[in-house]
Amino acid sequence: MDVGKKKDVAILRLVGNSVANSALNEADAFATLGRGHENLVTCYGWFEHDGYSHLLTEYAPGGKLSDVLNNISGRESGQNTLSVHVVVEILLQVCLGMECLHRVKPQSIVHRDLAARNVMVFDFSKDNFKKVDVRVTDFGLSKQLIGSLSDEEGNEGDEGNADKEKNKNKNEMDTDESRPLRYMSPETFQTIPQYSEKSDVWSFGVLIWEIMDGCKSWAPYPDIHSDDAVVAGIIGNSLTLKKPKGANSKLWKLVKKCRANNQDERPKFADIRLILEDLKMNLLTKLG
Ligand SMILES: Nc1ncnc2c1ncn2[C@@H]1O[C@H](COP(=O)(O)OP(=O)(O)OP(=O)(O)O)[C@@H](O)[C@H]1O
Ligand SMILES: [Mg+2]
Repeated sequence: MDVGKKKDVAILRLVGNSVANSALNEADAFATLGRGHENLVTCYGWFEHDGYSHLLTEYAPGGKLSDVLNNISGRESGQNTLSVHVVVEILLQVCLGMECLHRVKPQSIVHRDLAARNVMVFDFSKDNFKKVDVRVTDFGLSKQLIGSLSDEEGNEGDEGNADKEKNKNKNEMDTDESRPLRYMSPETFQTIPQYSEKSDVWSFGVLIWEIMDGCKSWAPYPDIHSDDAVVAGIIGNSLTLKKPKGANSKLWKLVKKCRANNQDERPKFADIRLILEDLKMNLLTKLG
C-alpha cells in the first residue's frame, strides 16, 4: 500500500474453524496475488482482533456482481437487459483474473468458490462495456463483512451489513462442511476430491449461465430444490442448465464446453480468454 495515500478498505472477519492456519495460508496467497492483477481484489493483509482473524481488502463500491445484476433484472421486470458486450466484458475480466490465479508459480491457486457472488463490482454500466470493472475475490474463505473504512469518515461503517444481505443465488458457506455444491464439478465429489483449474472452469461455466440469467434465479438448477438431487445429477451426468432466453449462442456453446463431464475435455482459462477476446472483437467489428 502506498504510504500516506488514503484508500477505502473492506474488513472481512474469517468465521468458523477456518480461522486456523489453513485459512491464513489462503489469506497469504490472496494477499500476495491480489496485488498482482487488475481483475483480482487486492488484499492488503490480515490482523487478529477479539479472537478472530480479519482480512483487509480493497473496498468494492458496487458490491457483489450477483446483487448488481439481480437489481437490474428486477427493475426491468424480469428481463435480462444487459448488452452482450457487457456480458462478454464481465466474463473476460473474470477469466483474466482466474488465468492469473492459475499461472502462479510454483503452485497455481485453485479458487474453489467461483460464482457471481464472489465477483466484486468497482464500476458498472448495463449498456457500456467500457465502464465495466469487476474483480474476483474470496479464495474459498469463510468470512463476513464487518465494516469498511473510508478515507472521508476514517471509521468503521456498514456494521451489520452482512446480516442484512439476502442469501440469494448462493449456497450457504456458514460451516466448514458446507460447500458451494451447485457450482462444483463431478470430480470434486469423489472420495478424494480433485480440485484443479478444470474444476474452476466448471464453476466458470455455471457463472456464465448466472450472468446470462441476470442472476434472477435463486441458484443454479432453480427447479431442483434438493441439494442432494443436484449432487446426484452432477455426479451422474444427468443435469443440464436451462438456456436463458435470448442467450448468445457462442456463449452457450462455451457453457457446455466448460461443463464437460470429463475434465480433460474442458478448456483452460487461457483457451477461454481467446474465445472471449474473439467474441469481443467480432462484436466491436459489428459496431463499426
Ligand atoms: N472487497 C469488498 N468490498 C465491499 N464489500 C465486500 C467486499 N468483500 C466482501 N464484501 C461483502 O461482504 C459480505 C460478505 O461477503 P462473503 O464473501 O462472506 O459473502 P458471499 O460472497 O455472499 O458468500 P461466500 O461466503 O459464499 O463468498 C457480502 O455482502 C459482500 O458483498
Ligand atoms: Mg464472497
